[in-house]
Amino acid sequence: MITNFKPSQPIGIFDSGIGGLTVAKAITKLLPNEQIIYFGDTAHMPYGEKSAEAIKHYSVKIAEFLKFKNCKMIVIACNTASAAGFKAVVKDTGMKDLIVNVIDPAAAYVVKNHYRERIGIIGTKRTISSNVYAKRIAALDPVADVVQLATPLLAPMIEEGFFNNKISQTIINSYLSKSRLNKIDALILGCTHYPLIKNEIKKYYGKKVEVIDSSEIVALEVKEVLTKHKLLNTDNAGKFGLGKKAQQFYVSDYTQSFEESSKIFFEEKVKLKQFNIWED
Ligand code: DGL
Repeated sequence: MITNFKPSQPIGIFDSGIGGLTVAKAITKLLPNEQIIYFGDTAHMPYGEKSAEAIKHYSVKIAEFLKFKNCKMIVIACNTASAAGFKAVVKDTGMKDLIVNVIDPAAAYVVKNHYRERIGIIGTKRTISSNVYAKRIAALDPVADVVQLATPLLAPMIEEGFFNNKISQTIINSYLSKSRLNKIDALILGCTHYPLIKNEIKKYYGKKVEVIDSSEIVALEVKEVLTKHKLLNTDNAGKFGLGKKAQQFYVSDYTQSFEESSKIFFEEKVKLKQFNIWED
């Protein structure tokens, strides 16, 4: 049990790049009194193509940076890093109960709402090949029928601004029509980029399939964990929250184009600061 943190300390959030800003946005919306410090490892993205060892190494280093920045909690806002780096981050930081990943809350939600049904997962190659969703769901519902598909084109497509148009709908439809995803009852969007194409995925399925966007589920989990540990910030009304300058966004490699794309994910202007944590 961790006792030496205070509610006024920030929440650290990290991702391989800027996709995790969908999670940062959901947290900011639900918890406007919280200050967030975001780190996007743009120098190494995409994580989806990297080895588990490399992702573990990056995740630990970023978590150390957020801890150094005085964060009371760390949210791994990346499915790929949650799959490959969660255990290493817990071990290295010693912040066990205050590390939130994006996979466990979604697994708990789907089992609660789709017990013994057919659950589909889409995500990067690394997330899907790790089998992590299937394992976490099976731990809660041993007879759940989980089917998975790697959809590696989707994250770069979204980053390039291709969503809500004919090209993106065609690519999405072509992935979702694969026989492996036949007859599913729910689909977990296992990549933090995918909330931006949620409507297009819903359009493909109509009302037959629940499309699960974990960013809101993760924000609720953050609130629950902070409340449990008496670390929820009830002061600062209006100081942080949406559109406020006090939020901090770091990237390991700054480009103008990252800054422009950040706006797509955070739904408002983001000022990115470069911080190269890889230089010793
Ligand atoms: N944001 C990452 C995730 O949720 C995907 C992007 C990447 O491959 O780095 O898995």
